[in-house]
Amino acid sequence: METDAVPAKNYQEDGVCIEHTELPSLPVLSKVPHTYPGCCLSLSAPLLSYLGTLMPAPPNIVLSVGSGYGLLEALLLSHVSSLSLVGVEVQPSSNRHLPASHHQSVPGSRSLHPLAAEATTWLFVYPKRVGLLEEYLCEFGGLGVVRIIWAGPQADWDDYKTCFERPDSAMRWNISVKSADTVGGRPWDLIAIANIEKTHAV
Ligand SMILES: C[S@@+](CC[C@H](N)C(=O)[O-])C[C@H]1O[C@@H](n2cnc3c(N)ncnc32)[C@H](O)[C@@H]1O
Repeated sequence: METDAVPAKNYQEDGVCIEHTELPSLPVLSKVPHTYPGCCLSLSAPLLSYLGTLMPAPPNIVLSVGSGYGLLEALLLSHVSSLSLVGVEVQPSSNRHLPASHHQSVPGSRSLHPLAAEATTWLFVYPKRVGLLEEYLCEFGGLGVVRIIWAGPQADWDDYKTCFERPDSAMRWNISVKSADTVGGRPWDLIAIANIEKTHAV
């Protein structure tokens, strides 16, 4: 995997670059969900295990779009051996937990990262804007991606699910939706797994 064309750096909010050795230690997750400052999605050990089962084996790449502090992504990297995951954030990145080798940044919130063309799984955790998923699908859908995992508030899902139902799209998705509390999260969160069924020319 080539992620170092532009060397990734980790920045604190004040813009100071932090080195790998200064990454904060990861919390030990409990059996019940807890909300951590570094992740909008409430996390638990069962939820991490569940999300781990959705991660592809190497050399497949997971791209987490809008990884924020990178807490969930760093926990996944520690939980799933040999996981090839890259979190992408807007510059200056709020990343605290991901080592530079697993982190990339984009110049602005309208920017897309080209690693999406290679990644087979995309992760969107508490994205802010439906358009971001639409733009990724428009630009990079039909290339490498075969699975998209969306995690966020139940109340937001109706807006996001329309991205997978566009009649003009060449992609057909098989979507399974779980209330997060059934897999170790909070009842107000939802996990959607969209697996590609087929891609055809339109
Ligand atoms: C609500 S936060 C969620 C962060 C993290 N996933 C979490 O659960 O804590 C949404 C994140 O998406 C990031 N974001 C917005 N547009 C983006 C883009 N085009 N590429 C990458 N990240 C983006 C924002 O900077 C923000 O950190």
